[in-house]
Amino acid sequence: MKIAIIYHSETGNTDHVAKLVAKGAEKVEGVETKCMSINDVDTAFLEEAKVVFFGTPTYAGSYSWQMKKWLDTCKLKFAGKVGCVFATENFLGGGADHAELAILSELLVKGMFAYSVGASEGLPYTHFGAVCIKDGTEEQKERVEIFAERVAKNVKKMING
Ligand SMILES: Cc1cc2nc3c(=O)[nH]c(=O)nc-3n(C[C@H](O)[C@H](O)[C@H](O)COP(=O)(O)O)c2cc1C
Repeated sequence: MKIAIIYHSETGNTDHVAKLVAKGAEKVEGVETKCMSINDVDTAFLEEAKVVFFGTPTYAGSYSWQMKKWLDTCKLKFAGKVGCVFATENFLGGGADHAELAILSELLVKGMFAYSVGASEGLPYTHFGAVCIKDGTEEQKERVEIFAERVAKNVKKMING
């Protein structure tokens, strides 16, 4: 099962978290991931992906304008895929949750199945998606990997029954 990880990153934090998402998802057998900056998307891989993670820095309490521009203008088809999100911010309460919700709403408009795992598997909860302050504390990094692993495990189960 292919999982695409698409992100925008100017100063490396979100790029770093994208790699943690890949690491977590690949703990599930049969999962292949690919991290792609919005400037360098492998469209063939993306077409085959069942899950797409979208990562963004928080800009003024929402997602970055670069990510917004990319999502608004890309002609790729996301309908029917599972969409998940992660975000980085500088400050606790800096708006990463809102950035994630804003992306999730755009994914719904594209016809994706928005998925967060949420509180369904106990702690650590992922309310909307993974969040890291800058490139993450050790605890935040661990939560990113757990989130991604749970997404991969559950989507694989959903597909294979
Ligand atoms: C234009 C701009 C706006 C930002 N706004 C916020 C904000 O509202 N809240 C916050 O916590 N951090 C904010 N930041 C900090 C970034 O979200 C944070 O450094 C992020 O991890 C950068 O990701 P990157 O290294 O992948 O580019 C802002 C940064 C920039 C450049």
